[in-house]
Amino acid sequence: MMVNLSTKYAGLNLRNPIIAASSSLSSTSEGVRRLAEAGAGAVVLKSLFEEQMQAEAKYLDQVFEPGWHPEAREYVGRLGMEIGPREYLKLVEEAKKTVSIPIIASLNCISPKWWVNYANQIEEAGADAIELNISLMPSDPNLRSQDIEQLFLKIFEEVKAVVDIPLMVKIGPYFTSLAWMAKELDKRGVSALVLFNRFYQLDIDVDKLKITHGHRFSSPEEMSLPLRWIALLRGRVKCDLVASTGVHDGFGVIKQLLVGATAVQICSTLYLKGIKQINLILEEIESWMKTHNFDSINQIRGKLSQLQSDQPEVYERLQYIKAMVGIE
Ligand SMILES: Cc1cc2nc3c(=O)[nH]c(=O)nc-3n(C[C@H](O)[C@H](O)[C@H](O)COP(=O)(O)O)c2cc1C
Repeated sequence: MMVNLSTKYAGLNLRNPIIAASSSLSSTSEGVRRLAEAGAGAVVLKSLFEEQMQAEAKYLDQVFEPGWHPEAREYVGRLGMEIGPREYLKLVEEAKKTVSIPIIASLNCISPKWWVNYANQIEEAGADAIELNISLMPSDPNLRSQDIEQLFLKIFEEVKAVVDIPLMVKIGPYFTSLAWMAKELDKRGVSALVLFNRFYQLDIDVDKLKITHGHRFSSPEEMSLPLRWIALLRGRVKCDLVASTGVHDGFGVIKQLLVGATAVQICSTLYLKGIKQINLILEEIESWMKTHNFDSINQIRGKLSQLQSDQPEVYERLQYIKAMVGIE
């Protein structure tokens, strides 16, 4: 029995639903080539951070202002601005020349200011799509949740107005009403929602009494959050839904497809187990599909979404009731 893993994602043709997520693995065309050779269906390039755009317009001594995204700070410092906005356009062009799978550029936005002209240049450089990684730290107690939500939508609208290629938005899970935000982005024509970004995490070194970074990589348990939200949103928004966070193996991918994901992004597992993991994941999916007599991804997608489930209430359960009986 032949298994067909190909899928359409945001109008792009993918040979399989595994997308290499934005990370340093995709910050060079050589990295992109390796990911494509390892079997990825598409690659999201390393994000260009808004701080990098600002830095190009300022002097380097102004670069490390407080409040910067910690990863951007580290990244910019380490590369000495080697990968600035101009180099990023070159990366898009080179990646497109190097591989035949779709290349998705990634812009990390905290305001609409820089991206409008630039998104246009990314499109001209040949990117197949743009993923806006919108991450706003809601730490200002004077900002209402509506203010922050409006900023999210403004960033999306302004970029959307100037590009013709598919525009995805990658968000974190921290919204009071995630379903509302998803619906509003959907109404404005988002091609896909990537659920979820996993933000930089903090920890404390108790010997040095210093702040240090927490777990850089996800663990498989973390995939239950995107699983629930994809199940809830499937059929309620028109855009595609993409799982990201905690998918480490083929079964993780199958579960996300079953609740309704169009495609699945993976990152931590590629760092922890190497990019050969893409092929192992594809083999696991194929073998599971053969065992269960499915020959295409479309046959499994959404079978266990809330709308198709015979136990829809389970997806909205927040409290442990029976699950803890005997443990407490
Ligand atoms: C080293 C590293 C670098 C990353 N860089 C980016 C980035 O530039 N842009 C972005 O949107 N996400 C970035 N991410 C987040 C990943 O794309 C992904 O969303 C996250 O790791 C969750 O997926 P996972 O559980 O498969 O790792 C990075 C993650 C890691 C571990």
